[in-house]
Amino acid sequence: SNPSLLILAGDGIGPEVMNEVKKIIGWYGEKRDLAFDVEEDLVGGAAYDAHGTPLTDATMERAQNADAVLLGAVGGPKYDTLDFSVKPERGLLRLRKEMDLFSNLRPAQCFDALADFSSLKREVVAGLDIMIVRELTSGVYFGEPRGIHKEGNERVGINTQRYTESEIARVARSAFELARRRNNKVCSMEKANVMESGVLWRQVVTEIHEAEYPDVELSHMYADAGAMQLCRWPKQFDVIVTDNLFGDLLSDAAAMLTGSLGMLPSASLGAPMANGRPKALYEPVHGSAPDIAGQGKANPIACILSFAMALRYSFDNGDEATRLEQAVEKVLADGKRTADLLGPEGGTPISTAEMGDAIIAALDAS
Ligand code: NAI
Ligand code: MG
Repeated sequence: SNPSLLILAGDGIGPEVMNEVKKIIGWYGEKRDLAFDVEEDLVGGAAYDAHGTPLTDATMERAQNADAVLLGAVGGPKYDTLDFSVKPERGLLRLRKEMDLFSNLRPAQCFDALADFSSLKREVVAGLDIMIVRELTSGVYFGEPRGIHKEGNERVGINTQRYTESEIARVARSAFELARRRNNKVCSMEKANVMESGVLWRQVVTEIHEAEYPDVELSHMYADAGAMQLCRWPKQFDVIVTDNLFGDLLSDAAAMLTGSLGMLPSASLGAPMANGRPKALYEPVHGSAPDIAGQGKANPIACILSFAMALRYSFDNGDEATRLEQAVEKVLADGKRTADLLGPEGGTPISTAEMGDAIIAALDAS
């Protein structure tokens, strides 16, 4: 039977960009004999409107059983006043938590046609292709104790950075595995100079490297120096592995090396399922963009590149992933731009659907 894909388009521009992905999935079924069993369901505000919860148990169950989940975006002003327990974001958090998606892959890739769009010099970013692997389910965002309490007559806000060695080991392995499929190079970032969790991080990464991945080149860097190096000469890196907090900051910074939010895909991977595929959720980095929702202006490329990541990491089809990425590159090289990709000098934007069609035309020509 065909591999299964669960599509959760969500809110705002989520369904608009996902519509273009569905056209591309259709193209693969028709033209490349690569068919998926696609199911669709609700998440976020859309699920709240229908069921009073941002993710039903039934949808959670379908996500657990799918070979891969593709998500659009969740949220919007309509839901801002809802109680935290039913906010759209909680749907996404529940998926990540219950699927135990500990390894967040955030590529920072600069298509040549957009190099002048970056805030950095062309030679610094042109052709950039690096991958940040961020630990996603532990660290300071989750550690206990946490909270705000009174000490004497003032309030104290507390969070705890806590990592077990198995949590470090599994994300390290995922970075080393990734490096073997790329350029065999990992840089691990922490602050072992001032943090105990950083000392342990460096020890465990080094142990896993020596025991299991001696063929991969490993370096270590303090995360603050790493932030500097990322802006100075990002092409020195290939795979960067880091914790949840540093990864949040470093991946957002690295992403902006490449230009628009509308271009950035991501993957969140967990442990292998019975069929050997990792639990996996693919989604664009951007949100539901309520300011442009419903206007046909959204850039579908982030969501389309997320599907390319699914082809590569869930369906072991790097060739077709590359085909899709090259189709995107060709369309950009031809000068086609959604509104978010137009610089101050302007130009005529194409619509969400026109961008999807142009990418399909480029696939046809490939
Ligand atoms: P956002 O990413 O939705 O939008 C930020 C800016 O980038 C906006 O000006 C938007 O128009 C633009 N933009 C984003 N994606 C674009 C695309 N594909 N094409 C063209 N322009 C694009 O972030 P914002 O405004 O902070 O949040 C809006 C809503 O989305 C909130 O409810 C927020 O909670 C939610 N959100 C959801 C995320 C998710 O589903 N993973 C992630 C981030 C925010
Ligand atoms: Mg962030």
